Amino acid sequence: MSVNVLPQEIQQLCESIDLHNYRYHVLDEPSIPDAHYDKLFKQLQAWEKDNPNMVSAQSPTQRVGAKPKAGFSQITHEMPMLSLDNAFNGDELGDFARRINDRLGLTSDSHIEYACEPKLDGIAVSLLYQKGVLIRGATRGDGTTGEDITHNVRTIASIPLKLRGSGYPEKLEVRGEIYMLKAGFAAMNAHAAKIGDKLFVNPRNAAAGSLRQLDPKITARRPLEMCCYSVGVVEGGDIPDDHIATLKLLNSWGLKINPHLVKATSLAEKLAYIEKMQQLRNQLPYEIDGLVFKVNNYRLQQRLGFISRAPRWAIAYKFPAEEAVTTVEKVEFQVGRTGAITPVARLAPVFVGGVTVSNATLHNMDEIARLGLQVGDTVVVHRAGDVIPKVVRVITEDRPANSQAVVFPDSCPVCQSQIVRIEGEAISRCSGGLTCAAQRKEALIHYVSKKALDIDGLGEKLIDTLVSKEMVAKFDDIYYLSKLNLMRLERMGDKSVDKLLATIERTKQTTLERFIYALGIREVGEATARNLSKEFGYLERVIAADVERLEQVTDVGPIVAKHIVSFFAQAHNLAVIKSLREAGVNWPEAEPVAAAELALAGKVYVLTGTLELMGRSEAKAHLQELGAKVSGSVSKKTDCVVAGAAAGSKLKKAEDLGIEVLSEADFVVFLNKLGVTI
Ligand code: IVH
Repeated sequence: MSVNVLPQEIQQLCESIDLHNYRYHVLDEPSIPDAHYDKLFKQLQAWEKDNPNMVSAQSPTQRVGAKPKAGFSQITHEMPMLSLDNAFNGDELGDFARRINDRLGLTSDSHIEYACEPKLDGIAVSLLYQKGVLIRGATRGDGTTGEDITHNVRTIASIPLKLRGSGYPEKLEVRGEIYMLKAGFAAMNAHAAKIGDKLFVNPRNAAAGSLRQLDPKITARRPLEMCCYSVGVVEGGDIPDDHIATLKLLNSWGLKINPHLVKATSLAEKLAYIEKMQQLRNQLPYEIDGLVFKVNNYRLQQRLGFISRAPRWAIAYKFPAEEAVTTVEKVEFQVGRTGAITPVARLAPVFVGGVTVSNATLHNMDEIARLGLQVGDTVVVHRAGDVIPKVVRVITEDRPANSQAVVFPDSCPVCQSQIVRIEGEAISRCSGGLTCAAQRKEALIHYVSKKALDIDGLGEKLIDTLVSKEMVAKFDDIYYLSKLNLMRLERMGDKSVDKLLATIERTKQTTLERFIYALGIREVGEATARNLSKEFGYLERVIAADVERLEQVTDVGPIVAKHIVSFFAQAHNLAVIKSLREAGVNWPEAEPVAAAELALAGKVYVLTGTLELMGRSEAKAHLQELGAKVSGSVSKKTDCVVAGAAAGSKLKKAEDLGIEVLSEADFVVFLNKLGVTI
């Protein structure tokens, strides 16, 4: 290493690499293709190889250095790193603001300015910059002493080794959170599983484990990021008067800050922010476990001060925990619409993700084996957003002496028919078909559901009653329900029966795609039903199609084609269709549009990156409706690539091959021109 002055072109090369690094990792706005960046980087490496005594410690090539010789050394934080008090609901958030107003001598309903930001679920760290150069990175530790992890933080691309621009204080301590991206975490665990390594429990543990490595080469391979959320020591220079302006300045000096940073004054504004972020939470590429509200003005912060280890001017609004511990009381087996037998864990009720959960799906026996689960076990249950609860882990240390292995039933628990498991499939099925009351009930629920015949008022409970009283067995029985019989059922009054019968009558007029979907053919979801209806136009033509013909339909592969053929090959299914039509179920049948006449007929599209406005499946459906093929990989045959946010290698390949690339915004405009509105 040396302090020699670099030749001007090398100095410029370093600056250019730093700039692209900043644009890519901090601003999320790369301006050059990755290949070009790699070229610049290699150029610098080559020059440094020829001039080893001219390599600066801040050179972008010097992120991965040597291991610390004596392990991690302890450091003392000049200013303690505090933690935050928590609020769990709007009332507690209101109390927080009232306490602040009281202390500041304001009326209790005054509104001062707050900064609102996500609470990132990672590891708190402190970065020390001296004259703009990163000289130390440390963990929070107990708030007073932490560990020196400089060798590891240097490997994180969103942390500048040297601050950009000018005007930064001579000594500047920046604080923030290092976290692992969800996608990187999943990929890392998938790889670990493949090579039989231990898995990390969640992205936070993975981030902590990555920072605890002595060898920075390992840390460098981990998908870590850092977002800054405050400053510590500031000497020899000034920072603005408020938190938000300071964070924006840090950003201009090359440090990453969270993009969802906003100002709010009233409680209503804070609650609206909570609502918005809760909606967004699952789409964020990193985990957050809540939000943080901070008094924005530093003078007010100072007046408010601290209480024990937390500031009075900030609070963490914690989202309900998404994981909780409970015990498995029983494992029962449910029979689904297609006969699939699914083990379900009956749990001691536990509050998780904002609701009380007492059941969790176990999917299949392979999953039970993977979890190593037994009845009586203590388990970790996960519930995020509206996703169905899932057992994610067994705490084997807590297994009671009387725990019992889960035994798969020999026959269907509902109709006692034989259970079959097709080789290569994880799922076992009841072979009873519609003779099995459970399958019949599920099939009926599907038939009346919103995207199928949409018979509002015929809910699960009522179907349950109708099936168990043997008033309905097949779909067509719905159309022969009489007022008299329905009135005999509990909680069915004159008005509700009339309403239900009117709905049944009205919804007889349907569409071919709804009808195909309603039949509940295995693997035929709404999109496939739509494609079949568009392609064939008439039900008779779908029934007559063989596997080969069906495979020509968008999205229909050999397995789906086989399911369709075998469904229509069964006489009892054709009989039900016939009597449904006799009962008056009808739909307009039309000449299908010839595939070759569609606007994008014969074109091959590839979707990559995150499409924020519509999501990939919607984009795919639009393209297919217009006659395009949507492929998973870019090749010379690709006509166009639609690149959403954070597009990676596919975008690069398209650029290398000179294929047309549309941003999501351009794509929406393009679809609009073809008459598709989003
Ligand atoms: S401010 C005095 N802001 O939460 C202020 N903390 O429970 C101290 N955290 O140890 C921290 N996101 O690791 C702040 N936007 C954010 C944060 C955040 C995550 C973590 C941080 C801290 C813990 C406090």
